[in-house]
Amino acid sequence: TRIAEAEETVELGDYDHYMLKEIYEQPRALAATFSAAGGHEVADSAFGECAAEIFDRVKAVQIVACGTSFHAGMVARYWLEELAGIPCEVEVASEFRYRKRVQIPGTLLLTISQSGETADTLAALRDAGTDDFVGSLVIANVDNSSLVRESDLVFLTRAGAEIGVASTKAFTTQLVGLLMLTIALGRRNGLPQGREQELVNALHALPDYVQQTLALDTAIKALSEAFIPKHHALFLGRGIHYPVAMEGSLKLKEISYIHAEAYPAGELKHGPLALVDDDMPVVAVAPGDELLEKLKSNLEEVRSRGGELFVFADRQAGFTSEPRVRVLAMPHCPEVAKPIIYTVALQLLSYHVAVQKGTDVDKPRNLAKSVTVE
Ligand code: G6P
Repeated sequence: TRIAEAEETVELGDYDHYMLKEIYEQPRALAATFSAAGGHEVADSAFGECAAEIFDRVKAVQIVACGTSFHAGMVARYWLEELAGIPCEVEVASEFRYRKRVQIPGTLLLTISQSGETADTLAALRDAGTDDFVGSLVIANVDNSSLVRESDLVFLTRAGAEIGVASTKAFTTQLVGLLMLTIALGRRNGLPQGREQELVNALHALPDYVQQTLALDTAIKALSEAFIPKHHALFLGRGIHYPVAMEGSLKLKEISYIHAEAYPAGELKHGPLALVDDDMPVVAVAPGDELLEKLKSNLEEVRSRGGELFVFADRQAGFTSEPRVRVLAMPHCPEVAKPIIYTVALQLLSYHVAVQKGTDVDKPRNLAKSVTVE
């Protein structure tokens, strides 16, 4: 198979696992993806020859994907709506394909897939062929894959072969493609030139922010120890960091087999708070202070029951650890880079938990790298 071939040719080098190697490859993969797509220019042609013609007609975006790629789509929805002013829906492919839908005229069908071969995503594209989309775009990592061959437009991520079943560098490079798409569509929809420049500068600096995040590896490993005896974990985030929390929770459950769930932070008090005790650590993706203050007051209620909060926060937010609240000070960076660097930190957290639990990090039980059958 393609994966077995890739594995033979990709050297593990000094790393213990492909997943760790792939986490560490992210600065290079992000830079390669940005520059291969034209870098600062963000040219329409990075998406295919007839991209300009299709993009001119886009009034809405429908994103369809599975697993980690679905989470990339969830992040992109915030960018497309906030920065490009374009309505965006995101759905997992296995639901999208079996649902009677009402299509907004002028919708671009956007699939996201590392492998380009996921059965449900491919079926969604094929079934949608008869609907009234302005065109289809795939963001994929494998050239000449089925989704790449069958879509009108293609953005190739340059993550290189990803061997670990749990996706890491494919996800973060997908976000580069999605932000470049946001810029390309935003230009047609009133995105100010100065704002575009800021976004491009952030993309350019991204590998450096990720490098700074990787430098926190030892601190993250220290945090990870608290999770080893746990059976459950809760991940919270607000706004664009809610899908980051979802991705963090997926990584933990995939490779460490700890049951993890993600909630929008505001929903904590509507149910999951009842579960918080000393067997339920709470991870908060909380770059700014607003969410953290609210969370802290929620957690006050459960402190006596042993609830413990692990907060990933911007180092400039000035938070320090206190009893039952452990803070990991993250690099300060532009807003748009945050979903990426916080994801990298959560990848490392899961990795260290799994290694210490002794699971098969690169090939978790029951899971496949590419799900090509329904
Ligand atoms: C499988 C993999 C995941 C991946 C998902 C979608 O479940 O284990 O890591 O996110 O498929 O795969 P795709 O290749 O379409 O991104």
